[in-house]
Amino acid sequence: MSIRPAAAVVLAAGEGTRMRSATPKVLHEIGGRSLLGHAVAAVQGLQPDHLVVVIGHGRDRVRAHLAAHAPSVEVAVQEHQRGTGDAVRCALEALPSLAGTLVVTYGDVPLLTTATLQQLVRVHADEGNAATVLTAEVTDPTGYGRIVRAADGGVEAIVEERDATQQQRELREINSGVYAFDVAALRDAISRLTTDNAQGQLYLTDVLAIVRAGGRRSGALRTPDAVETEGVNDRVQLARLGAELNRRVLEGWMRAGVTVVDPATTWVDIGVVLEPDTTLLPGTQLHGTTYVATGAQVGPDSTLVDCRVGERARIVRAHASAAEIGAQASVGPYTFLRPGTVLGQRARAGAYVEIKAASVGADSKVPHLSYVGDADIGVGSNVGAATVFVNYDGVAKHHSVVGDHVRIGCDTMLVAPVRLGDGCYTAAGSVIDQDVPPGAMAVARARQRNVEGWVERRRPDSAAARAAKAARATSTAVAGAGTEEPVRDNAAGPRKGNAQ
Ligand code: UD1
Ligand code: CA
Repeated sequence: MSIRPAAAVVLAAGEGTRMRSATPKVLHEIGGRSLLGHAVAAVQGLQPDHLVVVIGHGRDRVRAHLAAHAPSVEVAVQEHQRGTGDAVRCALEALPSLAGTLVVTYGDVPLLTTATLQQLVRVHADEGNAATVLTAEVTDPTGYGRIVRAADGGVEAIVEERDATQQQRELREINSGVYAFDVAALRDAISRLTTDNAQGQLYLTDVLAIVRAGGRRSGALRTPDAVETEGVNDRVQLARLGAELNRRVLEGWMRAGVTVVDPATTWVDIGVVLEPDTTLLPGTQLHGTTYVATGAQVGPDSTLVDCRVGERARIVRAHASAAEIGAQASVGPYTFLRPGTVLGQRARAGAYVEIKAASVGADSKVPHLSYVGDADIGVGSNVGAATVFVNYDGVAKHHSVVGDHVRIGCDTMLVAPVRLGDGCYTAAGSVIDQDVPPGAMAVARARQRNVEGWVERRRPDSAAARAAKAARATSTAVAGAGTEEPVRDNAAGPRKGNAQ
């Protein structure tokens, strides 16, 4: 059973000086999502009627970020950071008058889950509390507010470290900063907050003692998973929680049927989707909205950003972004697939191949050392080694089309825009700047000329000259040996010109 709160408030007005960053703290990312994005996603899972983010420092950037990534979120500005109690006051002012439960979380606590928040809301309702705080038992409580329990198991008060007695500092149950409140009780308590404390701030934590003094109950839910309540204050914690999030994401995928050979070197963003029976080899990074279908294998040492990978595809040592890789297609090693690449079923993009804004049809191959940009290649075609789609004239990009079952010879330059008809061939070393009709063989290169005896005349006494002389002696010694045809018969060209 889930209980929908009337409102949720995410506090994100603080400066985050310890990040030492021009970027507001809550916009730093782990797992492919901002810290604030994680916090917002967790509370969105509760489906509150209202969701307010309190912003202050770096407000323009934070506001723009929210508009882009969570447009349904409401924003309240806290002009001066006078404490967490003041921040919640700002949120209440932005909200209409409500009844029911209001949840408070922080924008810099990225691992908190909707499930834990649901548990908090449920305990809050079951115990009939006016305020319920999420707590954790930690070995080092330094810096946190301490939970002072009442004899009835509820919460007597939350005491900030700087205001705590020596005895209170010994307490190891800490305030996570995540709460469920009864809205009416919260509004009343907020109006009673004072700055009578070591920091001269309005403490949200004081609400628990205030509602208790007013005869209502304050309670606590102690979570066994303290990591969920950890906040990010500096980049050391950012990396640590980033690694922990990744560990949890990978564990989830492994339990769902994904083989992760080396979790320590595999990074998978929160928005990635993997089907069962996919395999991730060491050094794999899957970012953004990447999707990998069943039976596919990615890695080792591959980075995919916003890619779609079809069933049983193989990707080895590749870097790809916004590319679609068809079922049973094969990519790598050392392949760069840029946005707009579409590889059909069983297509191949091999070693030292770069592809951009181009489709390679089913069973077509670009096996080695080529650049394919702004082109459509049909089915069953082969692009010989060192082919370049010359797509840029220095001013604009142009598009080329290659038909089905075409054989492009090695070292062909296809000067766009150009069309190669179905079943045509190009001779190795050709510069093709005119369309090739279906079935034609296009030859666009200088004929070969052999200058007989040049080395012995012009490079006498060289190793090459001695080798040539010896070869000539042997061949004249063989009876009936003729000299080779100086210019190769063109009929042999295309077959020899295709690297397979
Ligand atoms: C707060 C709690 C402390 C708890 C700890 C958990 C209070 C008084 N103390 O302490 O009991 O153990 O969090 O991390 O609440 N913020 C605003 N506006 C403000 C002040 C803060 O939006 O005026 C936001 C910050 O951006 C941050 C959060 O509230 O996300 C917590 O603020 P912070 O200053 O870090 O509180 P702590 O002193 O750590
Ligand atoms: Ca803090």
